[in-house]
Amino acid sequence: MQILQLLARPRGATSYSNPLANDLVAQLVAANPGSSVQVHELTNSTFPQLEPAQLHSFLTPAESRTPEQEAAVRLSDAAIAELLAADTLVIGAPLYNFSIATTLKAWTDHIVRAGITFRNTTVGPEGLVNGKKVYIALSSGGVQYEGPMAAYDFVAPYLQTVLGFLGMTDVTVVREEGQNVPVPGDNTVANAMASINF
Ligand SMILES: Cc1cc2nc3c(=O)[nH]c(=O)nc-3n(C[C@H](O)[C@H](O)[C@H](O)COP(=O)(O)O)c2cc1C
Repeated sequence: MQILQLLARPRGATSYSNPLANDLVAQLVAANPGSSVQVHELTNSTFPQLEPAQLHSFLTPAESRTPEQEAAVRLSDAAIAELLAADTLVIGAPLYNFSIATTLKAWTDHIVRAGITFRNTTVGPEGLVNGKKVYIALSSGGVQYEGPMAAYDFVAPYLQTVLGFLGMTDVTVVREEGQNVPVPGDNTVANAMASINF
């Protein structure tokens, strides 16, 4: 296995999604000896918000780009190359204000590229990033898996949608949730790990 682990953890060392993602990766490696793991820490990453420089560079053919546009597209090209080199993607995904962390959103904005990671056809868009297995290590203070708060989770639906759009349709969501809810003896990373079968 070639595993790419993305960490988006604004809380740093006290993050819950991070140990969950680490556990996932450890189990994958144990089950697949010889696997390689590439860890990409997004928290302090230099992915900028999309601005005219990025958008124009994305939409300009490589041979026609200005030096400024070449510089602007470099991080996106590198992120896509890193993604394509992996066969398994493990994303540590905290739930912040109902959605994904902005660092993770910046990463998605740099890997969704028309003509490279998806293309538009006469019968609709087609994802070009195929054959990958994705695990989302989702951590949330509330219980979002079921019940009245389920509709407040835009992390799993968003990531499944955007990754699926690019062709990554085999997505497993593992949840560590409910730290902010008094549920006795429940909702630990261990329970989240126990919920998954490799
Ligand atoms: C700024 C902020 C916003 C949050 N928003 C939500 C939320 O909308 N729903 C929720 O269930 N938990 C929310 N939480 C709690 C986090 O989901 C929880 O702490 C989770 O563990 C975050 O992942 P992390 O530990 O990897 O940082 C929020 C926490 C912070 C700090």
